[in-house]
Amino acid sequence: MPGIRQKFMKLMSIVVKPSKVEAVKSAISSVGVSGATILDARGFGSTKGHTDSYRGAQYQVDTNPKAMLQVACKDESVNDIIEAVRSVANTNTIGDGKIFITELLDVIRIRTGETGEGAINGEY
Ligand SMILES: Nc1ncnc2c1ncn2[C@@H]1O[C@H](COP(=O)(O)OP(=O)(O)OP(=O)(O)O)[C@@H](O)[C@H]1O
Ligand SMILES: [Mg+2]
Repeated sequence: MPGIRQKFMKLMSIVVKPSKVEAVKSAISSVGVSGATILDARGFGSTKGHTDSYRGAQYQVDTNPKAMLQVACKDESVNDIIEAVRSVANTNTIGDGKIFITELLDVIRIRTGETGEGAINGEY
């Protein structure tokens, strides 16, 4: 039907404590994620890095080690991935992390030239 476009794929940037990476990898794999890019990162949130040990003045901003998993997925997979991440990374304490979601315009598999959703999953 004209005027209705397909929903964009999504790029999820999942920031978690480094100790949670292995569990998050397993959890997202179990809901069908077939690939991820994992970056070592440092960051701060609303507690300005004072998550583990408080030191220094209130206005001082420290950073804590974090890991970021970048996952490209179909729009329809987003909620499953959010739940999978939260089920293992939520300790109900500050610094558990965040998930950022943006629209993803395209994906290209370099080997075959496939594009779009077909380039995310597929045969191996
Ligand atoms: N506004 C932001 N923009 C980009 N990255 C952010 C932002 N807020 C947090 N992050 C990233 O997420 C990581 C984890 O943030 P964190 O869990 O401490 O968020 P928070 O909002 O302080 O929540 P909490 O109260 O659970 O600590 C940060 O170390 C940083 O890498
Ligand atoms: Mg915080």
